[in-house]
Amino acid sequence: MRVTFCTDLDKSVVVSNCEKRGWIQVGPEDEWNVYWAGTMTCRSLFSVDSGYRMNDNQIINHFPNHYEISRKDLLVKNIKRYRRDLEKEGNSLAERGDSKYLHLDFIPTTFVLPADYNMFVEEYRKAPQSTWIMKPCGRSQGSGIFLINKLSKLKRWSRESKTPFQQQLTRESYVISKYIDNPLLIGGKKFDLRIYVLVSSFRPLKAYQFRLGFCRFCTVKYDSSVAELDNMYVHLTNVSVQRHGGEYNSLHGGKMSIQNLRLHLESTRGKVVTEKLFDQISWLIIHSLKAIAPVVATDRHCFECYGYDIIIDNNLKPWLVEVNASPSLTSTTANDRILKHKLMDNIFSIVVPPSGIPDVRWNKIPTQQALGDFEILIDEDLAENTENCGSLKNGCKWK
Ligand SMILES: Nc1ncnc2c1ncn2[C@@H]1O[C@H](COP(=O)(O)OP(=O)(O)O)[C@@H](O)[C@H]1O
Ligand SMILES: [Mg+2]
Repeated sequence: MRVTFCTDLDKSVVVSNCEKRGWIQVGPEDEWNVYWAGTMTCRSLFSVDSGYRMNDNQIINHFPNHYEISRKDLLVKNIKRYRRDLEKEGNSLAERGDSKYLHLDFIPTTFVLPADYNMFVEEYRKAPQSTWIMKPCGRSQGSGIFLINKLSKLKRWSRESKTPFQQQLTRESYVISKYIDNPLLIGGKKFDLRIYVLVSSFRPLKAYQFRLGFCRFCTVKYDSSVAELDNMYVHLTNVSVQRHGGEYNSLHGGKMSIQNLRLHLESTRGKVVTEKLFDQISWLIIHSLKAIAPVVATDRHCFECYGYDIIIDNNLKPWLVEVNASPSLTSTTANDRILKHKLMDNIFSIVVPPSGIPDVRWNKIPTQQALGDFEILIDEDLAENTENCGSLKNGCKWK
């Protein structure tokens, strides 16, 4: 059988990877087996109106309601619900101490505005010295983000952004999160981690973490003083923001590999705490996925590769900032190109069965070799079948 692919993303990393596998490019109206689509295309294919029915040999790179994890407000809502549910069932994971969750405190305190304004004010008053970050729920690449350290600034913003044509209901919603003001710095600069996570099924949950993530650095030194509050080159690590910064280094594109970060931390902080940090990162990824698993319309045709944004604070605690359902495949450097090529290659090896032909009836248990640079985060099927477990405890490395 010949395998066909279709993409509405004109990225050479997608096309070259598919062609390398001998797949033939076709248009969206033709018979395709693999579709690397934008999120909107995927949603319209799955919409009731489209009348499109996929057959067993078709797979696509998004779940229809990926926004449950990629929208900033819904991610927070789902994680809060997950913690409440665990608490109700008396699960020790949801234990609290000092009114904080001991194990599930991995997102900065966050409220949705305007809906949760009163709750936010209550929290704000507990520590009026804190800085908060405002982010529009549905945007990306640092667009529309600003920091506030006074309630009056938020009130002024609210007044100014209200025009007669934009009534409360139609206004864009925002999340307001506690700003992590003690980020781990390297060379005096703030950075965040981009970690790729592939999910081939939500129920049962099957997720893989890519070993080759990277850190994205700010171009200017970190400075938490009020004078620099509006300077986004200090506070936002997005490549799209920093690219316009004065000291942007096109040679390494403001990036450092995760392996080098690990070596740096092992030598400056020690092996044990470094190991613990990376375990905690995997732990938070697993629980963020478990939090959305019950609400994702899991469909056997779908898989998705997420770009996790994680900030490490100066105490080596990782914080989940957001999850992208369409992480950038654009390369800024030669190393970046190699990494993204490998990423794409490994994704296809995992989601396509050994026969090389997409088939949703497959049990989605890839061979060790097919994993490439991915490692299993969790596979609830393996948890049931202990014979296949190998080194995994109950199908999950970090229970
Ligand atoms: N709570 C926070 N504390 C510190 N920095 C943050 C926080 N939230 C976001 N940032 C910074 O802002 C950047 C953009 O925020 P993010 O939520 O990823 O939105 P976007 O969709 O615009 O990328 C992050 O990469 C990080 O550098
Ligand atoms: Mg981001």
